[in-house]
Amino acid sequence: MAPTITCIEDLRRLAQRRVPRMFYDYADSGSWTEETYRANESDFVPIKFRQRVAVNMEQRTLASTMAGEAVSMPVAIAPTGLTGLQRADGEILAARAAGKFGIPFTLSTMSICSIEDVAENVDQPFWFQLYVMRDRDFIAKLLDRAKAAQCPVLVLTLDLQIMGQRHKDIINGLSAPPRVTLANMFNMASKTRWGLGMLGTKRRGFRNVVGHAKGVDGMTSLSEWSASQLDPTLDWDDVKRLRDNWGGKIVLKGIMDPADAEIAAGLGVDGIIVSNHGGRQLDGAPSSIEALKPIVDAVGGRVEVHMDGGIRSGQDVLKAIALGAKGVYIGRPYLYGLGALGEAGVTKCLEIIRKELDVSMALCGKRDIAEVDRSILVPGTF
Ligand code: GLV
Repeated sequence: MAPTITCIEDLRRLAQRRVPRMFYDYADSGSWTEETYRANESDFVPIKFRQRVAVNMEQRTLASTMAGEAVSMPVAIAPTGLTGLQRADGEILAARAAGKFGIPFTLSTMSICSIEDVAENVDQPFWFQLYVMRDRDFIAKLLDRAKAAQCPVLVLTLDLQIMGQRHKDIINGLSAPPRVTLANMFNMASKTRWGLGMLGTKRRGFRNVVGHAKGVDGMTSLSEWSASQLDPTLDWDDVKRLRDNWGGKIVLKGIMDPADAEIAAGLGVDGIIVSNHGGRQLDGAPSSIEALKPIVDAVGGRVEVHMDGGIRSGQDVLKAIALGAKGVYIGRPYLYGLGALGEAGVTKCLEIIRKELDVSMALCGKRDIAEVDRSILVPGTF
């Protein structure tokens, strides 16, 4: 029987039991010493709310917009790689949960289910995240495929031209589909639910890429992917070209420095995401919540600023919104929900965060998320 779920940590513990180690570890790791990965969470702690009392708390709303798209709360699902290996057909399940909840799901280029798989199996539109790859022909086709699927927003990731090393992936021999080694087989054999799900789906490899990009028909590992596919020459001129080729709404992900935020703001994009890739790239970079404030101060008046990294509760969402983010993205929390309980677990994750956000906002004396600003935080704590 599944234990009672009260918070994201409960989902994490259950996911850890149910998902094969290789995939659980892939999600739950940062690069090298994992210092930035840990700081993403811990830097929320010193920021304190001002509790206000005797304020009418009835008729609250969390409804907002992100990149001009209506959201039932200012939280989107972050693009995460290999999601369909946390749970069979994971991208489809999570996109369904997000769609029903009224928030965006962002499909990663490094997904297991392809753009078409998700579009065919989900009623609501989803956002698409792009990695720039060497094969420009493939990129053009990928953008066409995202357009055909009517993705309303393109999230262009700028911080993964080369890949930070995550030790656990090397130790576990991470690959998609998983390589057959004795240790892997023993571990997977103990995850019955996961195994039955995977046996019941044909979606087990990188379906956005394999069979679509020239000469890529057997790619299995992330390191292979990054070495052979990601384009290390990506620069701001490429970003401009991609913005123009896409022609629709575009959000730039991976901005950590006010100088880059200035350049991005000058491009007339629909948003930027303050992100250190969940602490998976530059180990030693500041946490996202630390980086958010100076970036909002520099460009907040000119471009919509979003953030991701370290959000594990509605209180964390509220702190980021108070510091000037128009919206946030959650990666690991939804993956924990997915690995623990499938679509119902993603819904549970979103419900937990919504309730925590709503109640915390009320206790800060606010009834509308649009009214939340730095005044709800204790001076000197942020
Ligand atoms: C890919 O986006 C990764 O961080 O593994």
